[in-house]
Amino acid sequence: MTGEAMAERSLFSLSGKVVLVTGSSRGIGRAVAEACAEAGARVVISSRNQLACDEVAKAINARHGEARALPVAASISDRKALENLVELVQQQWGMIDILVCNAATNPYSGPLLDIPDEAFLKILRNNVLSNQWLMGLVVPAMRRQRAGAIIVMSSIGGLFGSDTIGAYNISKAADFQLVRNLAVELGRDGITVNAIAPGVIRTEFAKPLYEGGEEERLNGIVPLRRIGEPEDIGGAVVFLASRAGAYVTGHTLVIDGGAMTRGII
Ligand SMILES: NC(=O)c1ccc[n+]([C@@H]2O[C@H](COP(=O)([O-])OP(=O)(O)OC[C@H]3O[C@@H](n4cnc5c(N)ncnc54)[C@H](OP(=O)(O)O)[C@@H]3O)[C@@H](O)[C@H]2O)c1
Repeated sequence: MTGEAMAERSLFSLSGKVVLVTGSSRGIGRAVAEACAEAGARVVISSRNQLACDEVAKAINARHGEARALPVAASISDRKALENLVELVQQQWGMIDILVCNAATNPYSGPLLDIPDEAFLKILRNNVLSNQWLMGLVVPAMRRQRAGAIIVMSSIGGLFGSDTIGAYNISKAADFQLVRNLAVELGRDGITVNAIAPGVIRTEFAKPLYEGGEEERLNGIVPLRRIGEPEDIGGAVVFLASRAGAYVTGHTLVIDGGAMTRGII
């Protein structure tokens, strides 16, 4: 058997699959797209910035071969843009087998009772409602195929209260319930729906959480004695999306170096 044939039979192979990852121009989303490409998938790179998506796709195509990455800009707050995104991918590649709702927003830091309505609504729209929109767009084709995997990037923030990012945490807690509910609704169609809850991961988004001495403090209390890297999340997505994770649905996988186990962050 050739190495390629063996890779295709691997429990963790995504060979022949198409994966759409929102927010994949950098950070966790990029690492997820790279891990899926490594596992054999074709990946759709998406964010608001077409040039940034082009660069990531170029790098993946250079590494894994032409036509393995397709860059398509779309804002998760724009339902029409998401419709166009899904339509374009389906036209080009026929199918979206795996959806990773990774992009999210947090425009506010401060007491929850002081958050302007617009900021709260934006957080709920981008972090919860847009995930539901995207699922609604990809599920009809998954249903016809009687297969599919949907993964929502939530956060351990959804597991505890905060005096600065309360609305964001509420949205991430809603994502836990979103995947539980859709797992129940879509199980009969052979579609799994799960969430991942990362701890503090070294990305632009999370800089305020690990800069200014915070990284040293976290290194002292996180059981694995370090903050996470974007690559720490990619393998979990491959697991949930591949044959290896076929019987996992409605679940939230915490990936935080053990921080929640210690009960303090
Ligand atoms: N890093 C952490 O510690 C951490 C912890 C727990 C959970 N998370 C979650 O992990 C996910 C990824 O975060 P990250 O840390 O990787 O952030 P990041 O490095 O800032 O990357 C965010 C990605 O999303 C895109 N994006 C932002 N707003 C968008 C929008 N409105 N429409 C489409 N794309 C958008 C960004 O590109 P453009 O700005 O060019 O659009 C970028 O590609 C988020 O759901 C976040 O809540 C992160």
